[in-house]
Amino acid sequence: MGEMNIEFNVNGKQVRVSAEPNKTLLYVLRGNLGLTGTKDGCSSGDCGACVVMLDGRPVNSCMVLGPQVEGSSVVTIEGLASNGELHPLQRTFGETWAFQCGFCTPGMLVSCYALLELNDHPSREEILTAIAGNFCRCTGYQAVIKAVEQAAAELRAAKGGAGND
Ligand code: FES
Ligand code: FES
Repeated sequence: MGEMNIEFNVNGKQVRVSAEPNKTLLYVLRGNLGLTGTKDGCSSGDCGACVVMLDGRPVNSCMVLGPQVEGSSVVTIEGLASNGELHPLQRTFGETWAFQCGFCTPGMLVSCYALLELNDHPSREEILTAIAGNFCRCTGYQAVIKAVEQAAAELRAAKGGAGND
C-alpha cells in the first residue's frame, strides 16, 4: 500500500509524516514521531493505554487511522508538562503512588487530564467514569482517584476559585 502525507499538530508543533493509510494514530505517534510515551496495550480499543487528546477530546489512538487526524491537534503524554513544569496530575500521581508498573499511566493521565480540563471539581463517580476505559492491572484505582482529587484541588487553588478544599 502506498504511503500518504499527513499533516497535523502534536503537542503544539506542526508535523508532517508519511505513512500507509491503514496505520493508526498510535502507530504514527510511536513509529513516525518517536513519541513512545503513548503505550500499545491491546491495539483493539480495550485497555486505554494509548489515550491521547484529539481536538480536545480523549480518544484511543489505536482506534483512529492516521489520515483521520489531518489538520487536527493532538496532545500526547509528552505534551502535558508546560514550560518545564509537570502538570499537577503528573506530580500527584507520583505523590500518591498512583502507579506501579506504569504501563497504563500515560493513558490514565491523559484521561484524567481530559476530565480536569472540563471539570476541576469532579466527584468520585465522575473520576471513575473518566477512567472507565483505562485498565490498570496493578493499582486498584484508589490512589488514582486520590491523585485526581489532589490535582483538582491544586488547580482550583491556582485559579483562586471559591470552594477550595
Ligand atoms: S492500545 Fe489502544 S485501547 Fe489498548
Ligand atoms: S500501574 Fe501497572 S497497569 Fe497500571
